[in-house]
Amino acid sequence: MNGYNIMRLDVLTLFPEIFTGYLSQSLLKLAIGRSLVEVPLHNIRDWAIGKHRTVDDRPFGGGPGMVLKPEPVVEAVEAVQQMATSPGHLVMLTPQGRRLDQTVVEQLASHKRLLLLCGRYEGFDQRISDLLEPDEISIGDYILNGGEVAAMAIIDAVIRLVPGVLGDQESNQQDSFSPNLFAHQQRVLEHAQYTRPREYRGQAVPEVLLNGDHGQVARWREQNSLERTRDRRADLLNRKKQ
Ligand code: ADE
Repeated sequence: MNGYNIMRLDVLTLFPEIFTGYLSQSLLKLAIGRSLVEVPLHNIRDWAIGKHRTVDDRPFGGGPGMVLKPEPVVEAVEAVQQMATSPGHLVMLTPQGRRLDQTVVEQLASHKRLLLLCGRYEGFDQRISDLLEPDEISIGDYILNGGEVAAMAIIDAVIRLVPGVLGDQESNQQDSFSPNLFAHQQRVLEHAQYTRPREYRGQAVPEVLLNGDHGQVARWREQNSLERTRDRRADLLNRKKQ
């Protein structure tokens, strides 16, 4: 035991193998190894019936592409919910969902268990949403081939907020005394960072970062962060506090 609560993220997908490489990368592998998070993968096709285990069909009314059938998806979600002592918060990845941002990530991280439902093809039969009432989430205004990459983005952002997952050095940046707090909440953009060498192809590191005056460094970073935000993402500055 590590004294932390384990967070469980169940993934429901037609392509579980997409996740295996990602799950074996260092931070996540470590978090799973230390029992801080677990990410069980479930193949929706396991709940499809018939010789061909069909999961999709043509849309009523015509049109291109295939639609995920309600029965295997609804039954998969119900079965996976039963696999742990308490049901999870059901997230459906879809371009029609509410937009993911750091505030939504924080909401999701407050759950002990999430179910991430990934679609493929042209989408889900509407009755899946009507019956299961999932939290529909989009990672941006563009169309992916499926929800898998979106689910990975959610896992990646959420596990950073699970206590114990980040090393002390990184997680300290999130404490309320940190000047980087606002950047971590994505209210402003992170300031520019430099490392060695001091000069590269005629480009020098700003002098103020080299002189060891922590107060000056902090002021420069705050200024740089605000300038970048104004130039690149003024919408963040105008956003009301949530
Ligand atoms: N599935 C396809 N496109 C998506 C998006 N932008 N966000 C979440 N899920 C998706």
